Amino acid sequence: MRELIDIEAAHPELITPDSPTQRVGGEPSDAFKPVRHRTKMLSLANAFSFGELTAFFNRISSELGTEKVEMVCELKIDGVAVALTYEHGIYTGAATRGDGEVGEDITANVKTIQSLPLRLFLGSPPDILEVRGEAYLSKEQFKQINEEREEDGQPLFANPRNAAAGSLRQLDPKVTSRRHLGLFVYALGYATGIEFPDQWGLLQYLKTAGFKINPHITKVGTLKEAYSFCEEWQEKRHSLPFEIDGVVIKVNSFAQQKKLGLTSKAPRWAIAYKFPAEQKTTRLIDIELNVGRTGAVTPTAVLEPVVVAGSTVGRATLHNEDEIKRKDIRIGDTVIVQKAGDVIPEIVAPIVSKRDGSEKEFVMPHECPACGGEVVRPEGEAVARCVNINCPAVIFEHIIHFASRGAMDIEGLGESAARQLLDKGIIKDVADIYYLDKEKLLGIEHFADKAADNLYNAIKRSKERPLAKLLFALGIRHVGSHVAEVLAGNFESVEKLSHATPEELIEIQEVGPKIAESIIEFFHENRNRSVVEKLRQAGVKMEQEKPGGAGLSARSFAGMTFVFTGALTLFTRGEAEGLVKSMGGKASSSVSKKTDYVVVGENPGSKYDKAKSLGVKIITEDDFKRLVSG
Ligand code: IVH
Repeated sequence: MRELIDIEAAHPELITPDSPTQRVGGEPSDAFKPVRHRTKMLSLANAFSFGELTAFFNRISSELGTEKVEMVCELKIDGVAVALTYEHGIYTGAATRGDGEVGEDITANVKTIQSLPLRLFLGSPPDILEVRGEAYLSKEQFKQINEEREEDGQPLFANPRNAAAGSLRQLDPKVTSRRHLGLFVYALGYATGIEFPDQWGLLQYLKTAGFKINPHITKVGTLKEAYSFCEEWQEKRHSLPFEIDGVVIKVNSFAQQKKLGLTSKAPRWAIAYKFPAEQKTTRLIDIELNVGRTGAVTPTAVLEPVVVAGSTVGRATLHNEDEIKRKDIRIGDTVIVQKAGDVIPEIVAPIVSKRDGSEKEFVMPHECPACGGEVVRPEGEAVARCVNINCPAVIFEHIIHFASRGAMDIEGLGESAARQLLDKGIIKDVADIYYLDKEKLLGIEHFADKAADNLYNAIKRSKERPLAKLLFALGIRHVGSHVAEVLAGNFESVEKLSHATPEELIEIQEVGPKIAESIIEFFHENRNRSVVEKLRQAGVKMEQEKPGGAGLSARSFAGMTFVFTGALTLFTRGEAEGLVKSMGGKASSSVSKKTDYVVVGENPGSKYDKAKSLGVKIITEDDFKRLVSG
């Protein structure tokens, strides 16, 4: 890869659209522009039992006039359907299903999927080949994404399918790229000059062409064999690294498929056998309350442990008071538990007939379970919150957040250490962390000399974290790591941000009124101001680092918009855009009359032409560098 990058840098004329260097960041797509499918993208009819599968088989065999129908059984991957277009063997486009007739253009995002071939391994590829398949997230990736989102205070994805869909609907392909989506293809949308005898042959052709097809496929001749494949995978599904929600059974022969035809929604030659959601019953022992970093008091069900869909479930979130009331869940109930999208455990319903009268209704307390302070649930909101800013549970969660990897990254300051430091009264807020000395740290149980040393050094090192990390660490409501980056790019210091007016804040593209209000409120609060002041006095860095280091006069790009096109040689695209942002400017992916500068690298794309036609100022990468250094 390095060698290729070097060659392409020296000979930009050799860069082709299917070069692996072009997966991310080539021409940005016309994101989500409507795309009309060449043939309708159909869905599948479902069968939920052996009986329904039998009905399907009886129908097709009677219409085909034979009981001998060869079928292909495939796993039903639980992801997002995509249509992929290749022109003369080169990848040129991808679209979502949309309403089946018109989907959305996701070309640039799909291009970042490593298993997508950019050029087909075919001697004489069709002029146009449109292949359909499923983009999906592995269970492992899904877990990791949600862990990161939790750290960032962003809402979690309920299941890998939603996460895959969210990953494909990103304006920035770099984000999609980081999600490491997988891709299996299983159908033909359209092809010129080539015909296939059957589904099995098509799958083999697609495999030869360089696509990934799911290896767990089989050809069967009877309904019984088809059903036993379904049963086998219903049992084994948890051992797969990705989610499946059933088995797709397709008539193999394309001639027979044609005879059976289509309905307006689905082919009549295929059916999806859907696995039943795995449910178990268990006892709800208690409802525990947790107080989060924002004071939100959330109920969690404590369950008698039970194995559901391959893992032991002992707790399940109940979201909020209304949800418990709506489902009429009582402490002591026997309840039905399932995994939503087979991942996150939830309580479906209580089994009312099993009640003996000893069950207790849940009431949200008016006092915080951690500090006894007032719990308030504003009208129209589902969440109840402890409003005591000194609540130890809130402070504890804030310290954990402050020290977490995505924030100030203080290794060694985990739950146990934070708990003890708080309980012993050694620290009272996040700023106190920076006033700890080794002696105080040695007071932590199980902390030997070395551990105390390490933590002391980790705390010291964290003083130098970039401004964005600090802003995220402060725990301002609605300011996740991304918004923190944006704020750091627009305001050079905590000081400047603390004096920002609502108007100045809302002017920033990614900041809405809710975030603006929360920032203003945060800096209005005396206690927060004093924490910030204490952090400053402890030597925590409060300013954005100037680009280019000392000696360069960092002029401001405030209010200016830059667009980059073509291959840059002095910076990576990310670095260049980062520089613009850090100097208060905006880096955009499309040229308009409002663009101030279009920076042209080698082999510029259509944005260069657009800039010329709109009369936007065009500069070289060298000019840009001079501009940055003033
Ligand atoms: S064939 C015309 N095969 O399931 C037939 N679909 O619920 C089109 N899916 O929209 C679909 N795995 O997104 C087919 N092996 C597979 C599949 C599969 C997953 C999805 C696909 C489809 C949905 C229908």
